[in-house]
Amino acid sequence: MAGDEGEDHGLLRLLMGPWLAEAVAAAVRLGVIDRLGGAPASAGELAEGLSLAADPLQRLLRLLVGLEVLEERDGRFALAPMGERLHSRHPSSMRDLALLYRSDFFLGAWRGLADSVRTGHQAFASVYGRDVYTYLAEHPAEAALFDSGMAAGGSFADALPAVYDFSRAGRVADIGGGDGSRLAALLKAYPGMHGVLQERPQVLAGARERLGSHIDEGRCELVGADFLAEVPVAADAYLLCRVLHNWDDDSCGRILANCAAAMGPGARLLILERVMPDDRQAWLSRAFDVHMMVMTTGRERTAAEYEALLRPAGLGTLEIRDLGAEMRVLVAGGD
Ligand SMILES: C[S@@+](CC[C@H](N)C(=O)[O-])C[C@H]1O[C@@H](n2cnc3c(N)ncnc32)[C@H](O)[C@@H]1O
Repeated sequence: MAGDEGEDHGLLRLLMGPWLAEAVAAAVRLGVIDRLGGAPASAGELAEGLSLAADPLQRLLRLLVGLEVLEERDGRFALAPMGERLHSRHPSSMRDLALLYRSDFFLGAWRGLADSVRTGHQAFASVYGRDVYTYLAEHPAEAALFDSGMAAGGSFADALPAVYDFSRAGRVADIGGGDGSRLAALLKAYPGMHGVLQERPQVLAGARERLGSHIDEGRCELVGADFLAEVPVAADAYLLCRVLHNWDDDSCGRILANCAAAMGPGARLLILERVMPDDRQAWLSRAFDVHMMVMTTGRERTAAEYEALLRPAGLGTLEIRDLGAEMRVLVAGGD
């Protein structure tokens, strides 16, 4: 039976998703994207300059033009707007996310999806015999890629200073703040702000590099502590960005209780997550929900589910604002 062409096309696009992602990652790894950031070049110039095989490169470039990562004019290739976002020096570069999503440790966990749905066992732990953060503590190269990939997928937070007014938050604490990129952006936007980053001790070296100038000026401190055990940080505003979706409800309860215990009167807790919308088109949130299922014991949650987690900690939702890319900031407080 002849299939509908629209369905064929849509289904092929899904089935070939891994090929297309690998084509993009290959162009990044081979240095093609960074080289094209300088100036347009022909396939021959690229092949010679990067010591690549001319015919295979030509065919990879042709695919990337079809995917709107590159543009071709008069036989010369240039970065299209999506390609620009893959350049390592773009201020909101997604380069390391392209590499992280093609990494063996991410793909290996996803290969456990069907078994996980069959058995109910957590996929990452079934495949690797440990949880993701224990695995990262044992694998420094993957951990470095994870931290930089997380930062590269965090451009939604660029909108944060415009969406939430931090002018009355003299001290801001980013709990599980990764490599410190978001805190660095906030410290830049608010010159009077003091920042604190709480992370696993293994992550602090990268954060020290990112936040070094602010640490030297005495505007920023790093705290190596387990947020499941304590949040030993006094601040006016606390950020939990893409943290709670990593954890089951019980662990979220502990993290939130530890934040609540640290919060003084009037302090605010900002939860940055893909708060699940009802919108049927919101496929990103659904994809990240399954990704959380594969990688962690966590999930993406609705606003009502976050409210149910906040209440036992004596906190409640004050407002929810959109950040873009289906990300939202849920502002919580205890008063
Ligand atoms: C998904 S990443 C998000 C990082 C960052 N907030 C962002 O949005 O880019 C979760 C972060 O939680 C940190 N983390 C995990 N377990 C932790 C723990 N027990 N105590 C403190 N930080 C932890 C990880 O190191 C990681 O950087």
